[in-house]
Amino acid sequence: MPRPLNVALIGTGFMGRAHSNAWMSVNKFFDLPLDAVMHTVCGSDLEDTRAFAERWGWGRATATVSELAADDEIDLIDVTTPNDLHRAHAVAALAGGKHVACEKPLAGTLDDARAMRDAARTARARGTRAYVWFNYRRCPAVAYAHGLVAEGRLGRLYHVRGQYLQDWGGPATPLSWRFDAARAGSGAHGDLNAHVVDLACFVTGDEITEVTGAVETRFIRERPSPGGGTGPSTVDDCVGFLARFRSGAVGSFEASRLATGHANSNRLEINGELGSLSFDVERMNELEWFDNTVDAGRRGWTTIMCTTAGVHPYVEAYWPPGHALGYEHQFISQAADMIREISGGSAVVALADFDDAYRTQRVLDAALISARQRQAVSLDDPEQ
Ligand SMILES: NC(=O)c1ccc[n+]([C@@H]2O[C@H](COP(=O)([O-])OP(=O)(O)OC[C@H]3O[C@@H](n4cnc5c(N)ncnc54)[C@H](O)[C@@H]3O)[C@@H](O)[C@H]2O)c1
Repeated sequence: MPRPLNVALIGTGFMGRAHSNAWMSVNKFFDLPLDAVMHTVCGSDLEDTRAFAERWGWGRATATVSELAADDEIDLIDVTTPNDLHRAHAVAALAGGKHVACEKPLAGTLDDARAMRDAARTARARGTRAYVWFNYRRCPAVAYAHGLVAEGRLGRLYHVRGQYLQDWGGPATPLSWRFDAARAGSGAHGDLNAHVVDLACFVTGDEITEVTGAVETRFIRERPSPGGGTGPSTVDDCVGFLARFRSGAVGSFEASRLATGHANSNRLEINGELGSLSFDVERMNELEWFDNTVDAGRRGWTTIMCTTAGVHPYVEAYWPPGHALGYEHQFISQAADMIREISGGSAVVALADFDDAYRTQRVLDAALISARQRQAVSLDDPEQ
C-alpha cells in the first residue's frame, strides 16, 4: 500500500486546473511508491476556492497561503500563482520543509529567481526537493528526441531553432496580470521563451553561453480593462534573440503573442552533422527526423508517431499505439516523475529543478539586456 504524499495547490486558474487533473490522475495511470492526496487548495477568493475544491476533489479550501507552510500534514506545495508571487510562495514552502513544484518562469525577475534557487539549495541539503513545471520535456516525442541526441544520432550539433508562437487576438484582448510588467516580469518572453530555452537546453544537453542580437517589441500599449475603460499594457509582445551554446552550436529563439494564426506553436528544430530533428507542440505526438546517414537516394524527413510503448517514454502508462496523448499527459507524467524522485527513485526524464530554471532565467534576462543595450551578453562567467 503506497504511503500518502499530501499535496497543497496554490492557484485555481488555468494551471490550477491542469495540476489538479495531474494530481487526481497520477496514481491511476502510474504505479508509484507514494499516493498523491489532494489535501488543500488555496485561492484568492474563499467561495470560489471552495467551489474549485468541490469540483476537483481537494479535501480542504483556504484563502490563507501562510497556513500551508505551517501545516504539518502537507508534504508538497504546488505553486500556480502569477509570476511575482512565486518567490514568496516557494521560499515560504521550502522554509517550512515542504517539497515545491513551481510553475514557470521561475520568477518575474532574476533577483527573485536567484533567491528561489538559493532557498532550494539550502532546502536540498535537508532532503527537500524543488521542481519547475517545464512540462513540455515530458511529451514523449521531446523525451525521445533528447534520447536520440544523447545517443549521438545527430552527431555534432550546428543549429538550434526555438520558436514559441501564439496568437492572443491583438489589441481587443483585455488586461490581466499577464500584461503587467510588475506582476509578470515580461510578456511573451518570460511566458514563452522560458519554455523554448528550457526545451533547447534539455534536448541538446547543452547550455547557452552567450546571447546577442535581441529585439524586444511592444506593439500594443493600451488594452481594455476588465472593469471598463482602458489601461496600459507594460510588457513585450514579442522578443527574439540569437545565442551560442557551449558546444559551439548557434541558436535562434523567438516568442510572440501576436503570431497571427498560430494558436500554440512551440517549435524546436535541431540540425546536426548526422541528421536533424523537428518538433511542434501543435503536433505533439510526432517527431520529424531527417537521418543523414541513410543512402542519398532514400534520404528524407520521416514522421515518427511517438506512441510506441517501451520505445517512447511514458506511453506504456496510458493508451495503445496511436491513441495520441495530449497536453494534460505532460503534467500527469511530471507529477509521476516528481513522486519517483521524492520517494528516492529516479525520474524517467530529467526534471527541471530551481538550478536549471535559474539558468534559463539568466538567459531570458540576458536577452532583455542585449535588446536594451544592443550588445552581446556573456553567460560564460561563473554563476552569480
Ligand atoms: N506550464 C505551462 O504550460 C503554463 C501555462 C500557463 C501558465 N503557466 C504559468 O502558471 C502560472 C499561473 O498562470 P495561470 O495561467 O494559471 O494564471 P491564472 O491567472 O489563470 O491563475 C492564477 C491563479 O492564482 C491565484 N492567485 C493569485 N494571487 C493569489 C494569492 N495571493 N493567493 C492564492 N492564490 C492566488 C488566482 O486566484 C488564480 O486562481 C504562471 O506562472 C504562468 O506563467 C504555465
